[in-house]
Amino acid sequence: MDAFAYTPDLHCESHPLRHLAERFGTPTYIYSRATLEGHYDRLAAAFAELHPLICFSVKSCPNIHIGRILAERGSGMDVVSGGELHRALLAGTPPERIVYAGVGKTQTEIDAALRARIAYFNIESEPEFETIASIARRLNIRTRGALRINPDVDPRTHAYTSTGKRDSKFGVDIGRAVRFFETYGRDDFLKLDALHLHIGSPVYEVAPYIDAIQKALALIDKLAARHFTVSTLDLGGGFGADYETARSPLAADYAAAIVPLLRDRAAKGLKVILEPGRSIAANAGVLLTRVLYVKDGWGAGPDGAPVPKKFIICDAGMNTLLRPALYSAFHFVWPVAPGPNFIPERRAQAQSMPGLERCDVVGPICESSDFLAKDRFLPPMKQGDLLAVFTAGAYGMSMASTYNSHGLPAEVLVEGASTRLIRRRQAIADLVAPEQF
Ligand code: LLP
Repeated sequence: MDAFAYTPDLHCESHPLRHLAERFGTPTYIYSRATLEGHYDRLAAAFAELHPLICFSVKSCPNIHIGRILAERGSGMDVVSGGELHRALLAGTPPERIVYAGVGKTQTEIDAALRARIAYFNIESEPEFETIASIARRLNIRTRGALRINPDVDPRTHAYTSTGKRDSKFGVDIGRAVRFFETYGRDDFLKLDALHLHIGSPVYEVAPYIDAIQKALALIDKLAARHFTVSTLDLGGGFGADYETARSPLAADYAAAIVPLLRDRAAKGLKVILEPGRSIAANAGVLLTRVLYVKDGWGAGPDGAPVPKKFIICDAGMNTLLRPALYSAFHFVWPVAPGPNFIPERRAQAQSMPGLERCDVVGPICESSDFLAKDRFLPPMKQGDLLAVFTAGAYGMSMASTYNSHGLPAEVLVEGASTRLIRRRQAIADLVAPEQF
């Protein structure tokens, strides 16, 4: 569900991507404001009955102009570092709508978050609680904490992004939660009155959420019996986006499973927080890249025998979009101008059209893991052609690096009739500046 369409060349809202490439260069991340807002609004509508505080997960798409659009719509922010806190504040997020997670908060970062008067610290360990409480006491600033519990639930996602199983570094084993409240639950400066969950990302099924929430509710009751009130339950993020392979549940599907579990509690005053990132930003962005060279090579056929394949060498690679290299993640890749015979009705059907060539879409980086797509079938490509890498709005730019000393790409926002640069391309002079002092 997005505003990127072939009419007949690829457009973002009403703007041809070809024009955007000429104007802003490549590689560039292009975002559609209408898509971003549409996803936010659908999520808010789906969960409206719970009146949740939606805290957009800054790590998924940290650009402050994107943050400002969401903050103006009423979104809070989920941050995991002093840098993300700074971005959330620059985007105009009211501090009482900021929650701060992460297993390794430094004293400087805690100090800044306390002074900013954020809503919640999501606390991941006993020594972290003690550190935040002691800094709060020293600064004479009262704040609130949510204990991040590890519910030992399998989100059935990539091992690198699974965070709610017992062996994960995140949160505190749910079996230790009562003791945690007994030890720390009466602190005057760091008021522990909330629970936080984040089981993984992306989570393509609703069952793991149901399991984790039921465990959290049972814990809330157990704590109540010991006179500890939990006033807020933060469900974390992890809702999927449509990468055009496994169809992800929609916001309404997640809500249909989750709302009934929390309806009565919310009516009695339990505040619910959601921390979506990918489900709002992923489909709102594509990565626009230009083909530098095409060369002939070899791949392996189904029987392992060598089959001819093309290497489409682009100006974007693992430095621009890391997900394929890191998680073998699938992103649909297709030419911006595929020609009249090559416009799939549904993008997922593209691979089975006649006249396509087996390709690896790769970048300029000196690593064999530097690919955007492997063993895909594309219309014949040539030097100078443009390609779009879809569903790249979340964890695209935010995980880009300057590896091999390439500057970071530009970011462009399309908003109706207008387009604007929201992050300029990093120049080589910017890259070396911190070394020249
Ligand atoms: N809340 C917490 C505490 C998180 O750690 C995360 C993501 C989120 C919310 C947002 O999850 P989302 O709604 O975006 O799925 N780099 C990976 C994803 C790692 C996500 C880490 N935490 C990727 O490219 O898929």
